[in-house]
Amino acid sequence: MKIEKIIFATGNEGKMREVRMILSDLGVEVLSLKEAGIEAHAEENGKTFEENAVIKASEIMRQCGEIVLADDSGLEVDALNKEPGIYSARYMGYDTSYHVKNQNLIDRLEGKKGSERSARFVCAIAAALPDGRIRTTRGTMEGEIGYEERGENGFGYDPIFYLPEYGCYSGELSLEVKNELSHRGKALRLMKEELRKLKEERQ
Ligand code: IMP
Repeated sequence: MKIEKIIFATGNEGKMREVRMILSDLGVEVLSLKEAGIEAHAEENGKTFEENAVIKASEIMRQCGEIVLADDSGLEVDALNKEPGIYSARYMGYDTSYHVKNQNLIDRLEGKKGSERSARFVCAIAAALPDGRIRTTRGTMEGEIGYEERGENGFGYDPIFYLPEYGCYSGELSLEVKNELSHRGKALRLMKEELRKLKEERQ
């Protein structure tokens, strides 16, 4: 099928930069909601990352009739029953600073060591096509919750996310390395392959 443009459902410029970088060799124009002139809000009332991504992408696709991509991501802490999970942005309230949220997670893991502190970032990306078809991909980045905040890079829970394989915190990674390793980067590269397959479909 012919794909000339794709809308990525985010208002976040940082995310858009990452998306454009990874999809740059697909030969498709990638627009943010703002660039496409779409004012949209979709209720994220799904129970999984995938459900939320599909809800968002489908709702906006219905409004504009173009191929729409949307993502949903968050942090799962195994010892906390995979909290905060899909509630990562809402955890302790949207207006609570990440310094407070991060310290709260550290406090809740008191007494736990090494692999008992295992956690992962998860990102699901959904593509909603005007013909009704849906594609989803998922990427994860495995690690552990550290004992303190470290690093000036990244955002959200990055300062407490320790990567044992690399001996550093996610907040200490450069943007290039983070994109290479991150849940979002992995999910996006898998989505790029899905889009490539769709592009190669005969009319
Ligand atoms: P979303 O924008 O609805 O996907 O919400 C994602 C939330 O999960 C963010 O607000 C962060 O709290 C958290 N999160 C997702 N990805 C990352 C990351 O790469 N680093 C740090 N926090 C993240």
